[in-house]
Amino acid sequence: MTKPSTIRIGICGLGTVGQGVWKHLERSRADLQSRLGVTIELHRGAVRDLSKRRTVDIPVEKLTTDALAVATDPSLHIICELIGGTGLAREVTLAALKAGKVVVSANKALLCDHGAEIFATARKHGGHFLFEASVAGGIPIIKAVREGLVANRFKLIYGILNGTCNYILTRMVQEGASYPTILADAKRLGYAEADEALDVDGWDTAHKASILAFLAHGVWVKTDQMIVEGISKITQADLKHAATLGYGIKLLAVITRDFEANQVFVRIHPTLLPKDRVLANVNGVFNGIAVTGDVVGTTTYIGRGAGQDATASAVISDIADAVALLTTGKAPMLPEEAASIHDRGRNPSIAPLDKIRSRYYLRMTVKDEPGVLAQVATVMANHAISIASVIQTSSERSDAASLILTTHESDERAMGQTLADLQKLSSILEAPLLLRIGDFEE
Ligand SMILES: NC(=O)c1ccc[n+]([C@@H]2O[C@H](COP(=O)([O-])OP(=O)(O)OC[C@H]3O[C@@H](n4cnc5c(N)ncnc54)[C@H](OP(=O)(O)O)[C@@H]3O)[C@@H](O)[C@H]2O)c1
Repeated sequence: MTKPSTIRIGICGLGTVGQGVWKHLERSRADLQSRLGVTIELHRGAVRDLSKRRTVDIPVEKLTTDALAVATDPSLHIICELIGGTGLAREVTLAALKAGKVVVSANKALLCDHGAEIFATARKHGGHFLFEASVAGGIPIIKAVREGLVANRFKLIYGILNGTCNYILTRMVQEGASYPTILADAKRLGYAEADEALDVDGWDTAHKASILAFLAHGVWVKTDQMIVEGISKITQADLKHAATLGYGIKLLAVITRDFEANQVFVRIHPTLLPKDRVLANVNGVFNGIAVTGDVVGTTTYIGRGAGQDATASAVISDIADAVALLTTGKAPMLPEEAASIHDRGRNPSIAPLDKIRSRYYLRMTVKDEPGVLAQVATVMANHAISIASVIQTSSERSDAASLILTTHESDERAMGQTLADLQKLSSILEAPLLLRIGDFEE
């Protein structure tokens, strides 16, 4: 191959992340050029509004509103897709891959929804797709799983992948304030998306979990094949009861692999995590991921999961890999190849959700009268669910009490049936809250 002496980069999208990439790439360009042995040129950028004021000084003659023209510009080698969403971003990505370019992306939603198409297009046309910034911002987790841990098979990966949820839960614990109060604050400070559901209902975490599951196991798990639950029902009472029981509550992505059944399980939910686990102590906007490999054991990664600088750091790492690929031909290992090494071609299936096993935490508002606990225990026994602990406290309602149970291990099917039967009891006054307990075997 002819080694280009100048690598030209086009950046589609110069918002929060794009401007961070432009700024830090300009700042570190001389260093990168000397390390990589080529000239790097930030050649063109695409935006929606040319007249918008930007915090980074970008010559206006380098900008266009035609992102597809940038994606297909024959003089460019690397295209950064930093527009977001799954519409134009998909078109830009596919057009650049069809032109044989290296695409660098931070777009987890695009990868989750169209990952199979993107990698197939890259393979067919000789393009490459790099996506370090799509999961956990500045933490190099993609590289860790794909390269550093390549000798391993992964029975368990779990992590805090959404900084907004972690920020809200942390402040609820530290300040004793309610979920709606802290959420309103997070929105005011710009931590939560305008459409907060993406963050607090678990969808952003689900997109990232899908990418990690693909990297680790070579299968695309769609969000409707996962349990996806958010943090909006967590109350101060839950945080306090969890603490009494020795747990913190974190929104976790949990990816497990049953090697005997050859199945992958992916779930996103608020989880009671034992206080002595490292991730139970990862607070604020930080992300953390624990990866258990069969060779290395558990390795843990903590850092800033979003924001301009942390995300730019990950994008620039991919740009450096892209330059190495273009100049030496050394391509980062594709996930499919990684999976086939682990599994000798035997990719796993996606487990039915009702087979997922866990211990559970159940909070119920019940009539404050004798015999209620016995009724609840009978329903649980009918579904072979064994109670591990019981706490009964006063409720905000004068006619009611709060009953908090934890269970020994059961499965989603039995718990689902139990919840349905509990709600038929006249002594249960509100829909029970069910949380999973994450005393994982690392
Ligand atoms: N922000 C973070 O902390 C973070 C962290 C990790 C990953 N990500 C991912 O990074 C990507 C970018 O996020 P962001 O926060 O930087 O988004 P953003 O601030 O909204 O920036 C989007 C950029 O795309 C441009 N754009 C939108 N529509 C366009 C069109 N039709 N033609 C040309 N350009 C168009 C916008 O142009 P104008 O500037 O003219 O409006 C803007 O520059 C997303 O996939 C996001 O999920 C973000």
